[in-house]
Amino acid sequence: VNPMPREEGLDHTLSLAREGYLYIPNRRHSFNSDIFETRLLGKKAICMGGTEAAELFYDEEKFMRQGAAPNRALQTLFGAKGVQTLDGPEHKRRKEMFMSLMSRERIEELIHLIRKEWESEVSKWEGMDQVILYKEVQEILCRAACQWAGVPIQENDIKERTKEFGSLFESVAAIGPNHWLGRAARNNVEKWIGELIEEVRNHNLKPLENTALHAFSWHRDLAGNLLDTEVVAVEVVNIIRPIIAISIFINFTALAIHQYPDKKAKIQSSDEKYTEMFVQEVRRFYPFFPFIAAKVKKDFIWKGYKFDVDTLTLLDLYGTNHDPTLWDNPGLFNPERFSKWKGGPFSFIPQGGGDYLTGHRCAGEWITVEVMKAVVDQLINKMEYRVPEQDVSFSLVSMPSIPASKFVINHVKRK
Ligand code: HEM
Repeated sequence: VNPMPREEGLDHTLSLAREGYLYIPNRRHSFNSDIFETRLLGKKAICMGGTEAAELFYDEEKFMRQGAAPNRALQTLFGAKGVQTLDGPEHKRRKEMFMSLMSRERIEELIHLIRKEWESEVSKWEGMDQVILYKEVQEILCRAACQWAGVPIQENDIKERTKEFGSLFESVAAIGPNHWLGRAARNNVEKWIGELIEEVRNHNLKPLENTALHAFSWHRDLAGNLLDTEVVAVEVVNIIRPIIAISIFINFTALAIHQYPDKKAKIQSSDEKYTEMFVQEVRRFYPFFPFIAAKVKKDFIWKGYKFDVDTLTLLDLYGTNHDPTLWDNPGLFNPERFSKWKGGPFSFIPQGGGDYLTGHRCAGEWITVEVMKAVVDQLINKMEYRVPEQDVSFSLVSMPSIPASKFVINHVKRK
């Protein structure tokens, strides 16, 4: 057994907050090691990144999710008792419930809804002096996501609900008032969805069969029981919230189209394959989820390093996507790199790695890619716009990172 490279000191939670997306990559670089030990939230913790570390992290014999997510994330981003916190057969059963919604036909229906909403918004944008894309896109996604999930929502409520869903993922790393806004938003949203679930179960509300609201309300666990209303609400929110969060990648997509006109020209002159490569590069290049957390399930030794049961372990997502041993010139925005990319479940992990059905990899990764491809088409082929002077800088510290101006466009015209 060898000692793991170790960051000296009592606690480094503040360094993590100060360095954000770069906290783990900086130390992987300075220790010249894909794995190191530190102290976070008052306890020993392990941080690791790269393909082999990712493969290890997704080994269910060695790591578990129960008890891994910090309470502040459960109170805002994830919700209590959701699929993210489950392990083993219970997780698989719940994950099947999510993946049953991810058929090609269902994804196409969502894309259709988003395109329809987008096109009617363009008419509105034509009459506006300036359009803050982040905000407008969130409303489009909120409308489409609710409809897709079978959740009825009044036009009057769209703005407020969009804000609430947004604050679930905007508040996760916030301190002070914004964090508490996120908690309040979670309570409101779960209460609203919970009431709808009760109506479904009382047969007063009949959402279409293949919607999340229907499927989750009638889902049975391994023991054959319906889930608690609160758990169904958390899981329905686990569909709507992340669809609205695609607004962050959409902002970066618009930024990339603006900043790399040669790539834009190539999208216009190439087939859909290139659009997909462009979208993959947006997901690799720009920051979104910095890392994910698990706990060591039982003592084991890996590459001579000892892992003690219960140790909090973080997998470096951002750093793995920027790992110079996996990616040539990782700091260069270069969609062409995906034409020769060999693939593999553990090296390109903006939405987690491993397997969808048996592991925790993001249930919505296919949706995310398809939505982004549709948006590239809308932005490039279906409308014209200008991008006025603005501060489009984005931080590698604050999480989630969003371009400062939230991307403003003007002189919008339908093509
Ligand atoms: C899990 C990222 C969109 C539903 C995750 C995980 C990440 C992630 C990093 C954790 C993986 C792990 O713990 O191993 C993202 C990003 C998105 C996105 C960056 C872009 C907006 C979506 C969408 C949906 C979705 C659109 C649903 C429609 C889920 C669910 C899980 C998850 C249900 C939990 C899976 C599990 O624990 O088994 N996502 N996601 N996500 N995501 Fe996404």
